[in-house]
Amino acid sequence: TTVSTTTSADNSFIKKLKASGRSLVVFYGSQTGTAEEFAGRLAKEGIRYRMKGMVADPEECDMEELLQLKDISNSLAVFCLATYGEGDPTDNAMEFYEWITNGDADLTGLNYAVFGLGNKTYEHYNKVAIYVDKRLEELGATRVFELGLGDDDANIEDDFITWKDRFWPTVCDFFGIEGGGEEVLIRQFRLLEQPDVQPDRIYTGEIARLHSMQNQRPPFDAKNPFLAPVTVNRELHHGGGRSCMHIELNIEGSKMRYDAGDHVAMYPINDKDLVERLGKLCQADLDTVFSLINTDTDSSKKHPFPCPTTYRTALTHYLEITAIPRTHILKELAEYCTEESDKEFLRNMASITPEGKEKYQSWIQDSSRNIVHILEDIKSCKPPIDHVCELLPRLQPRYYSISSSSKLYPTNVHITAVLVQYKTPTGRINKGVATTFLKEKQPSAGEVKVPVFIRKSQFRLPTKPETPIIMVGPGTGLAPFRGFIQERQFLRDEGKVVGDTILYFGCRKKSEDFIYKEELEEYVAKGTLTLKTAFSRDQEKKIYVTHLIEEDADLLWKVIGENKGHFYICGDAKNMAVDVRNILVKILSTKGNMSEADAVQYLKKMEAQKRYSADVWS
Ligand code: FAD
Ligand code: 2AM
Repeated sequence: TTVSTTTSADNSFIKKLKASGRSLVVFYGSQTGTAEEFAGRLAKEGIRYRMKGMVADPEECDMEELLQLKDISNSLAVFCLATYGEGDPTDNAMEFYEWITNGDADLTGLNYAVFGLGNKTYEHYNKVAIYVDKRLEELGATRVFELGLGDDDANIEDDFITWKDRFWPTVCDFFGIEGGGEEVLIRQFRLLEQPDVQPDRIYTGEIARLHSMQNQRPPFDAKNPFLAPVTVNRELHHGGGRSCMHIELNIEGSKMRYDAGDHVAMYPINDKDLVERLGKLCQADLDTVFSLINTDTDSSKKHPFPCPTTYRTALTHYLEITAIPRTHILKELAEYCTEESDKEFLRNMASITPEGKEKYQSWIQDSSRNIVHILEDIKSCKPPIDHVCELLPRLQPRYYSISSSSKLYPTNVHITAVLVQYKTPTGRINKGVATTFLKEKQPSAGEVKVPVFIRKSQFRLPTKPETPIIMVGPGTGLAPFRGFIQERQFLRDEGKVVGDTILYFGCRKKSEDFIYKEELEEYVAKGTLTLKTAFSRDQEKKIYVTHLIEEDADLLWKVIGENKGHFYICGDAKNMAVDVRNILVKILSTKGNMSEADAVQYLKKMEAQKRYSADVWS
């Protein structure tokens, strides 16, 4: 059994730097691959400035070696760090984060810079990067360039290239490097066509281990997902033109466990038709067996995805072909245009000039053009398929808040997911990768399975059942609360004393998208649930859950302030979660007779005590 994408072994990044004459190391804290991608771009660009670079995963490195980096002349450590959830570092940066937080290493002589990846709609915007940037200085390290902050809610690509554009000249000044060289586009991976490889050595969609799908072996996790049979897939909406799926997965025999509030992650595959179209546009034979091999032999990442495989498998299982391409991809595509004007157009969009940025925003982002659309619309651009495979980001698993309780369903995981489908300004219909994939998984058509794993979360019911709870979950934000309510009912049925269970639910129309209506009404009838509903489009004026909460200020204060209850929000991070939080602060301040600053402090304390939790996504 081999793991194809990484070889473990050596965790000394200093040794690797020295052995290959490098002075730049770019660490990433990445959950969905963006920080890793940015790190890769920085490391690759170093060569232009005679600073040969390498990318490193802090989880695979002995980070105490940062103390020795100063022994390499003109050395620099860059950190591309994402912030997740409630201000948390990514899983792979967790240990490093704890080390610099709790440790007191003397980092004098270490040169560094930090770029953060965050999202302004979340409460703790870029907390990790801000902290690491400050902490490294406290420990004696030298900040070579100011902290960069990327906002994924606006345009993180723009933030990154703007930061990078000033970063390099400052780095050159600092180290006395003269005249940044020409922009060089270098391939990171070389193509090896392998027509003679034995069929059973070819990857067909496994995430890491060859044959792991046919030959399922626990423990199941992100690298070794469990193929879970879909036992139920039914529509929750009644008309209205949108679709919300209730899906049940059987996890029997997987040894995977979950608690209400956890997430299930799923590896989807791309649309067949889109894969074929991309193959045609690149004039490729999709059945060709190939490997992409890292030209940097010191890298722990030998291949960008499991190899050898076919182009069809790579585009179907391993690559994000519908993501909006970042500017470095456009820059590389430009080289493959036979028309000079097309080349200029792509180069311009990838530049940091105001017109270039504007064009990128309107022609790529606002028009939701993916790689297929770009190649369709720029006809003279004919990149080789292997280079496209090198450039596209790795296909990411999608997360769903589990909408069941393991107390009731120990061997079943329920999902509540809205189908993503929208018309773009160019008249195309874009379809969400995972939700379209799920929609087609109908158990009536025989056994259908999806690769999944479970991710533990911090989103938890109070340990004592008698603690009252308030849940705010409009739309699919109801998902984890369905699990919570099932569990509270279960405890009541067992004879336990269960505190007030109050749900604020909102949707567009009572008759269309009031999901799980019958179930919820039954809990109300049994006296387990207090249900408050806001139907935004059933009357002239919008009514949202936020309006209901405002009206219920006295109730909220009683539950939270007097009875020390827990408060939960789930759903849309962008507007809803922010509005709810603000209203809560207002209620705490008026009903609890606190200044606004004190109310904010009060909420922070609730958060620390896990009495206030958010499970939000954008
Ligand atoms: P993708 O192919 O990933 O496409 C989605 C992207 O398309 C969006 O990011 C956006 O960039 C773009 N897009 C979408 N609509 C438009 C539009 N109208 N105009 C322009 N661009 C658009 N989802 C649920 O349904 N239920 C859940 O319980 C749930 N829980 C989650 C829990 C967590 C912790 C997280 C992080 C996410 C959760 N999600 C949930 C979201 C889910 O993970 C997926 O992001 C979602 O299902 C879309 O996946 P997809 O592959 O179908 O779409
Ligand atoms: P709308 O789409 O009619 O504006 C689930 O998505 C429900 O949440 C819908 O009824 C939606 O209303 C509503 N909603 C939209 N923005 C919201 C916000 N900022 N706060 C609370 N609910 C919101």
